[in-house]
Amino acid sequence: MRILVTGGAGFIGSNFVRRTLDSRPDASVTVLDAMTYAANPANLTGLDPARFALLKEDIRAADLVDELVAESDLVVHFAAESHNDNSLRDPFAFVRTNVEGTVTLVEAAARHGVRFHHISTDEVFGDLDLDDPARFTPETPYSPSSPYSASKAASDHFVRAYVRSAGLEATISNCSNNYGPRQHPEKFIPRQITTLLEGGTPRLYGAGDNVRDWIHVDDHNDAVWTIIERGEIGRTYLIGADGERSNRAVVGDLLEIFGRGRDDFVHVTDRPGHDRRYAIDASSTLALGWEPRYTDFRSGLEQTVGWYRANPGWWRETRASAEEKYAITEEVIG
Ligand code: NAD
Ligand code: TYD
Repeated sequence: MRILVTGGAGFIGSNFVRRTLDSRPDASVTVLDAMTYAANPANLTGLDPARFALLKEDIRAADLVDELVAESDLVVHFAAESHNDNSLRDPFAFVRTNVEGTVTLVEAAARHGVRFHHISTDEVFGDLDLDDPARFTPETPYSPSSPYSASKAASDHFVRAYVRSAGLEATISNCSNNYGPRQHPEKFIPRQITTLLEGGTPRLYGAGDNVRDWIHVDDHNDAVWTIIERGEIGRTYLIGADGERSNRAVVGDLLEIFGRGRDDFVHVTDRPGHDRRYAIDASSTLALGWEPRYTDFRSGLEQTVGWYRANPGWWRETRASAEEKYAITEEVIG
């Protein structure tokens, strides 16, 4: 099976590529990745060149995309501008990659009749109140709050439109917040882990009450394979692992892992429009026979801390540049 993976040099995509090559001897993978600031070349080192190739190019390069899609059996589309805070500073990059890039890919996949899986996020649904018993389902109306989530929502709509009007054989998955090895230090959990490894103090946006529904990246990627193999064309599947936690609770757990007090953090400027809570009802994916393996968040977190501790060369520079960006607007408020 020849698989084209877009964004395969980033966090979730590189974990997907490694897991796929390890567990599926019949698979060969071509990664198409523009190698933006979010990619790390170290994510894809040591892979068998007979079964793996990396092409450094933008997913909007229509001629190349057409050629690559034509020679593939499956496209798994991870490439995106993925960070909310960046989307508040530079929304157009999100329109270019997440919207134009996705349209370029679905054009080619529909033209060549190639199976397509679109990776999306639960953030397209907007947010829930902290005390609302509801969770997101595939029927929840779209209500994105940031330029990032608006661009992902637009990309989902394009995929659906191509299923309906161009016969695209696609499935979509909307997953909750991922954690695990190889996540960029601009994101919440790796930012706090690398801060703690450097002896610093974790930073909570606003009061820290916001809730995210955490899932280990390997559980996400196993669910993606389940959907590719057993999902129904044209359907949307929600992926989550019952991992709801406030940001304050996550920081508390990390501080404990490092032997410090649970309250040894600072509050910093809140994110404008900060979504309060995400929560996934994953029945649509569970019904296909998938189930998460990392059901104990604390031990998944310990494994992740272990990975960052063992790989300082992977994160030192990217952490420094992420912190430079944060320093422009972020202030300690308490
Ligand atoms: P990431 O930022 O770590 O990686 C994105 C990758 O895409 C990078 O390697 C980057 O170089 C590449 N890329 C960006 N623009 C490109 C372009 N124009 N052409 C080609 N490549 C380009 O992101 P991630 O966290 O691994 O997220 C992967 C996907 O999963 C995204 O679609 C994201 O919306 C979705 N998602 C992420 C999460 C999460 O918690 N991180 C949760 C649900 C869904
Ligand atoms: P993030 O990893 O950016 O993911 P998303 O915005 O897609 O959910 O942030 C996760 C949560 O952590 C979110 O509520 C914002 C918060 N956050 C902090 O409190 N401190 C930080 O330093 C960062 C980066 C995020």
